[in-house]
Amino acid sequence: MTNTSIHRRSFLRAGCALAAMPLLPASALAAPAARELHAREGSAALLGPGNPETAIWGYNGIAGGPFLRYRQGDELRISLRNGLGQGTSIHWHGIRLPNPMDGVSGLTQPPVPGGGSFEYRFKLPDAGTYWYHSHNRSWEQMARGLYGMLVVEEAEPPQADQDLAFVVDDWRLDNRGQIDSQSFGAMPDWAHAGRLGNWVTVNGIPGPVFKGRRNDRLRLRILNAANARIFTLAFPGLNPWVIALDGQPIEAWRLSRANLTLGPGQRADILVDITGDSDTSAPVRALFPRQTVDIATIKVGPDAPRRRTPLGRPKRLADNPLPGPLSLTDAVAAPLRMEGGAMGGMMGGMMGGRMLGMREMMSQGKVWAFNGVAGLPDKPLITVRQGQTVRIDIDNANRWPHAMHLHGHHFRVVGRQGRPVASSPWRDTELVQPGERVSIAFRASEPGKWLFHCHMLEHQAGGMATWIEVT
Ligand code: C2O
Ligand code: CU
Repeated sequence: MTNTSIHRRSFLRAGCALAAMPLLPASALAAPAARELHAREGSAALLGPGNPETAIWGYNGIAGGPFLRYRQGDELRISLRNGLGQGTSIHWHGIRLPNPMDGVSGLTQPPVPGGGSFEYRFKLPDAGTYWYHSHNRSWEQMARGLYGMLVVEEAEPPQADQDLAFVVDDWRLDNRGQIDSQSFGAMPDWAHAGRLGNWVTVNGIPGPVFKGRRNDRLRLRILNAANARIFTLAFPGLNPWVIALDGQPIEAWRLSRANLTLGPGQRADILVDITGDSDTSAPVRALFPRQTVDIATIKVGPDAPRRRTPLGRPKRLADNPLPGPLSLTDAVAAPLRMEGGAMGGMMGGMMGGRMLGMREMMSQGKVWAFNGVAGLPDKPLITVRQGQTVRIDIDNANRWPHAMHLHGHHFRVVGRQGRPVASSPWRDTELVQPGERVSIAFRASEPGKWLFHCHMLEHQAGGMATWIEVT
């Protein structure tokens, strides 16, 4: 699997070429919300300016889609138009919404056929950093660019001089710089870590440069939009404050020597204080097993500082009105054993109500199972009543990490390795390490069928999906 390593030299070259590129100011990102998202073919400067463009699929033809921005409490009203040769739908990741708006093809709606359209319309109850993406054949549609950031502004945002999207993706490109489409569906990827790319972009370009003045504070809304890659980011010299995870505020926490790890689908809002002198710069660095790549640069411009000293500890953001509190003593619980993958020793599993051997399963693209069932089962993992607290005891009984995402709800980790966890942030996606046992809990709020799956999209397609029914 040579193409899974990041091409560092070519990456850095492109990064340098970009240093002179004008910055995307925050106001450019705060474009008016699109009324229509047209899923269609387009092209993008993934390789950077001066290089051939890459053919992609994107909403309104943009790789990584238009940036959507609303205020808390606003109604989102967007019509999806499908200009693709295959069905599609949009999922609003992390948003609490009515089930028919959740956009899961085959569970909450039929896929919108090519030439068709569908109107999404719902209120945005929570502020924070979210995203939207295709939820049909996402392993292909998202790898081609069908996703975008969705920001819901707080009534009282934290003090910051710029509010910036920081969307990280890794693309798998062939040697012509085009999306490597031959490897879609490759079983070795599905049974291992998923489709790992060889080209990293931030906001759709390689190595962007963000400019600020000394003592400026930048808010970076970091999203890992990759199909399968876990990103570990380091911010040398920037000492960021982490203020929210998966859109939900946390007690601000200094990321001094620690790194920030985001599984696919996870987000973190960080505040970065620029402390360097004029004409210096600081990298945002991605740490991979065998190499380190600077994926963006924060540059100190020559302008006079706005303030004499950096800002102090940020105020905690107001909590969202999430359903709570959790009532763990009378929670209804379900076990979730995750099996399969390479070196997992899985013998077989249930598919479509039949027991199949591993060979047969693989021939149908299934290499993973939840509780012995590969793929979306007819019956839910658990049926609960609205208002009940639900606990899911995840047992990662295989050799791979998994980014478990629950639709329509936020949960807390309440147990790890069989021991209770007293306090943990609200999340909608949790990275579960090999051999780890993690219990999560949430309060079932909206009735409907809520998907629960691994956000490594090849694992999801390869069998790691189930659903929870709220009546
Ligand atoms: Cu972000 Cu079911 O996905
Ligand atoms: Cu997984």
